Amino acid sequence: MNQQNKIKILLFGSTGFIGKKVSSLIETDFPQIEIINSQSRLENTQDVAKELDLIQPDRVINAAGITGIPNVDWCESHKQETLRVNLVGSLALIDSCWKRNIHIIQFGTGCIYQYDENHKENSGNKFTEKDPPNFFGSYYSKTKGIFQDLLDIFDNVLLLRIRMPITSHLEDSKNLISKLIKYSKVVNIPNSMSVLEDLLPVMVDMCIKKVVGVFNFTNPGSISHNEILTLYQKFIDPNFKWENFSIEEQNKILKAERSNNELDSSKLLEIYPDIPHIKDSMIKVFERIKKSIKNQ
Ligand SMILES: NC(=O)c1ccc[n+]([C@@H]2O[C@H](COP(=O)([O-])OP(=O)(O)OC[C@H]3O[C@@H](n4cnc5c(N)ncnc54)[C@H](OP(=O)(O)O)[C@@H]3O)[C@@H](O)[C@H]2O)c1
Repeated sequence: MNQQNKIKILLFGSTGFIGKKVSSLIETDFPQIEIINSQSRLENTQDVAKELDLIQPDRVINAAGITGIPNVDWCESHKQETLRVNLVGSLALIDSCWKRNIHIIQFGTGCIYQYDENHKENSGNKFTEKDPPNFFGSYYSKTKGIFQDLLDIFDNVLLLRIRMPITSHLEDSKNLISKLIKYSKVVNIPNSMSVLEDLLPVMVDMCIKKVVGVFNFTNPGSISHNEILTLYQKFIDPNFKWENFSIEEQNKILKAERSNNELDSSKLLEIYPDIPHIKDSMIKVFERIKKSIKNQ
């Protein structure tokens, strides 16, 4: 296929955890797409506009954002930087795409909700795309919630709300499994999660088809940290041990609170009914990890 017939995508955040996965997936499995890594910083809005005019992409994917080093606690002491990139810069990018009639996929987060009276754990009442944010316990989540609320006037945006991303690679330091096995204590609460091997191919399909709107971008169902670590014990290390602690105890060692919730994935499943339940997908993830360890 010659370059002229390809769909040209400009990718922001190509060096990040999710951006790298997007880039390598497209390069490997989607020969009809040409992917170009953005060179501009989101807060430099004139550079971003110039880059859009120079590259003239058919689509934009924004996987860039401040996530904190080593985690979102960092955002509590770097509020201006967090706001400038995650809200001001990301919004300016979306507006620049809107002015140029370019479809953009924005990676968002489902960490803007927490279980409450109307959405109790395992109650079947999950957070839909229409629910307003109810978790403001961290500056990261607060700005993400405000940002997402502002997007409804744009008809060129697909907002994909991911949670606790998981891959089949323990070397990915931001893979939830890699994080859990390093923590000395974990909370034991069911949560929605996003297995990237299941969901990123869906993201590319939505990009090709220019789907717009807000989608909870998680596997259906929920799974607890204990269930994941039990699978780790079963598939990878029978001697692995861990301890639990309460949310109150966890809050004492963190600068910012963390959210726990289950998102309703039925809107996504209406278009992509084959996305596996999180508990089935996690078994496949551990089978792949086990296989890759055997082959080392
Ligand atoms: N990982 C999660 O748990 C999770 C969960 C839900 C949602 N998300 C969202 O998904 C997106 C990607 O997350 P991630 O985990 O892949 O993050 P990440 O590994 O921290 O990568 C962030 C990416 O954004 C780029 N970036 C940061 N500041 C930038 C700026 N001012 N201008 C341009 N690029 C900038 C980074 O490039 P440099 O290194 O050059 O700065 C890097 O490529 C974020 O919006 C995040 O909030 C992540």
